[in-house]
Amino acid sequence: MIDASASDDQRFRHCLEIQRRVSAEHNLDRLAQVVMDEVTALLGADRSTLFLFDRDTMELRANFAAGVEGRALVVPLRMGIVGTAILRREIANVSNAYASPYFNLELDSILGYRTESLLVAPLLASDGHVLGGLELLNKNAGRFTAEDEVLAKQAAGRLAKWVENGDAYPAGVEAEVIALRNTVGCDRGTVFVLEEGSGRLAAIHADGGDGRSISLNMKLGIAGLTAVAGRSIRIEEAWEDSRFDRSVDQRTGYRTRSMLCVPLKSASGESIGVVQAINKHAGPFSADDLATLEAVAGIVAIAIDNAMLFSDQERQFHSMLDVLAASIDAKDGMTAGHSTNVAQHAVAIGGELGFSIEELDLLRVAAVLHDYGKIGVSDSVLKKEGLLSDEEFAEMKGHASLTEDILTRIHFTRKYRNVPLIAASHHERLDGSGYPRGLTGREIPFMAKILTVADVFEALTADRHYRKKMNTEDALAILDAGAGTRFDSHVIAALRRYLAVPEPLVVKPPPAENYRSG
Ligand SMILES: [Fe+2]
Repeated sequence: MIDASASDDQRFRHCLEIQRRVSAEHNLDRLAQVVMDEVTALLGADRSTLFLFDRDTMELRANFAAGVEGRALVVPLRMGIVGTAILRREIANVSNAYASPYFNLELDSILGYRTESLLVAPLLASDGHVLGGLELLNKNAGRFTAEDEVLAKQAAGRLAKWVENGDAYPAGVEAEVIALRNTVGCDRGTVFVLEEGSGRLAAIHADGGDGRSISLNMKLGIAGLTAVAGRSIRIEEAWEDSRFDRSVDQRTGYRTRSMLCVPLKSASGESIGVVQAINKHAGPFSADDLATLEAVAGIVAIAIDNAMLFSDQERQFHSMLDVLAASIDAKDGMTAGHSTNVAQHAVAIGGELGFSIEELDLLRVAAVLHDYGKIGVSDSVLKKEGLLSDEEFAEMKGHASLTEDILTRIHFTRKYRNVPLIAASHHERLDGSGYPRGLTGREIPFMAKILTVADVFEALTADRHYRKKMNTEDALAILDAGAGTRFDSHVIAALRRYLAVPEPLVVKPPPAENYRSG
């Protein structure tokens, strides 16, 4: 970390350090924290905030604001479909406006108009920042076609050039919209221009209606405006800037003076968020500060894009696991929930033993899948009440090696590479009396020893076809009786700590071992 008076050279080295740190971080929450700490230090600011754009709710969310105590800041963008298309920098083609979560009903009621179908194309400047949007309403033939989209996109390109050069208004724009409306065959055409001074989308031409112009006042605040326009904003005195929303300061009692706000854009140019620094310690932020933050934002955007992709993949992976676990559960309603309960116990035990988050993740996956091989055991054996014959027991035992056979066919990333072995070893016993391999002591993966205890404990304390559930003390007594011979005593001790059940002073004989840890 450096202070604000650092030389260019120090700043450059700090930027490289930031690059190194953010590229190494795949966890979105930790990444956000790193970014804010580093930006605050790099610029000599009082605090900094990372806003990420939520595509579902159309909000900019800051879960982390360095210098602000755990408060989540949310900037609702509520800009209707026009604003949404602009923010995404892509065409919006909606056939039933009232069904769209982004549609702004207010406008229809102001204008006394009923919007049905709607086509919006963003107006983008040559450098990619947003100039405004072109909106077409109510196609005569019901809904706008792919051809209409192409035409609108081309028209938006020409309109953008005119708006960018500042020589369009109004004749060129008017002719363009009338021509487009006639070709496409629709009710209205409106061109909005984003006024960066006020944060409004102002209609510079409305064609086909009653000629009334409307402006969408978006009250975006500085962060919102940065995201929508896709352009950085530097402010020396926030309270003197009409774009600044004082209400947050008024609520929190904090006084914002200088600000730097830089958009984060994905590789495809779409806004993914905003990074903001507030109150430089020594005077307002300089143009150099802005250039520095823009350089950092480029690096950060890539890292965030990656982290989001990564968390998407993790979510996909874990939802697939849930489906697999549910499919084992579906075989037998009586044992439904067994896999997830075992996972819960196993992770709690692992936590007591000091395992890292990554390790607990591996343990959870192995636990959720440990009985997957039961998919190949016949229902008559799986659901049998009473004792199993030797033949039936052999079939039941087969589920452990079947688990391994099936799981080795899944491509696990390196982190989860041991899942098949750990999962398949949950019936191994320290003294070699277990199955499928009859491994002993250290031959058994330690995580499998955790699964064993979690599995037996879960099996004992839940109802089964052949007996009622047992209470915690009795279940622990059975585990204790096998401590050191079948079950690992460290693991049992960790289970006790998690359950907050101390070791008994007088050891009583365990109840009859009427359980089948399947
Ligand atoms: Fe099992």
